[in-house]
Amino acid sequence: MLEGDVPACMAILEMWNMAPRQASEDNPDPERSSIDIANGFVAEAGGRIVGTCGYIVHNPGLAETASLAVDPSFKGGGVGYLLQKARLDEMRLRGIRIVRTETDRPDTIRWYVEKFGYRIVGTNPKKHDFSLPDADHWTVLELDLAST
Ligand SMILES: CC(C)(COP(=O)(O)OP(=O)(O)OC[C@H]1O[C@@H](n2cnc3c(N)ncnc32)[C@H](O)[C@@H]1OP(=O)(O)O)[C@@H](O)C(=O)NCCC(=O)NCCS
Repeated sequence: MLEGDVPACMAILEMWNMAPRQASEDNPDPERSSIDIANGFVAEAGGRIVGTCGYIVHNPGLAETASLAVDPSFKGGGVGYLLQKARLDEMRLRGIRIVRTETDRPDTIRWYVEKFGYRIVGTNPKKHDFSLPDADHWTVLELDLAST
């Protein structure tokens, strides 16, 4: 990801109600407040950005995935798979062992479990409306990179 990619990535994340937002008086602790360009990825098709993702390193062995979204008109075409694979490969190269992912969409939970070998480890309450408006919690998933 490059600095100039951020607006296109924000637009795709916004389509899924997942765009990072600034802390404010009404919302002092947003679910996501920024995009980390250094740990970010984009997918391009026909010269435009059609998907994005990133990750956050919590300690030398543990990272959390962030802000994976594909333009809805490209959904189901393998873009998400390539983005997810790219970030997992980079995390593995950096020595990350455990990858944590929080998501709320049942299709996406199944996708992580069936395509990438995650296991469900719990739930976390949402801090505010983000992603699916009618889901009040995240499903927490973990992947052990040493076992894949
Ligand atoms: C989750 C997401 C990133 C996946 O990206 P994608 O490009 O759509 O996924 P892919 O095409 O790589 O893989 C989807 C697979 O599931 C299948 N699939 C896609 N939509 C499906 C659906 N609604 N029901 C069942 N299967 C579906 C595809 O055929 C594909 O299977 P295959 O790999 O065997 O061909 C994307 O759908 C998305 O942006 N979702 C909304 C935001 C979100 O949940 N982000 C993750 C936050 S943690």
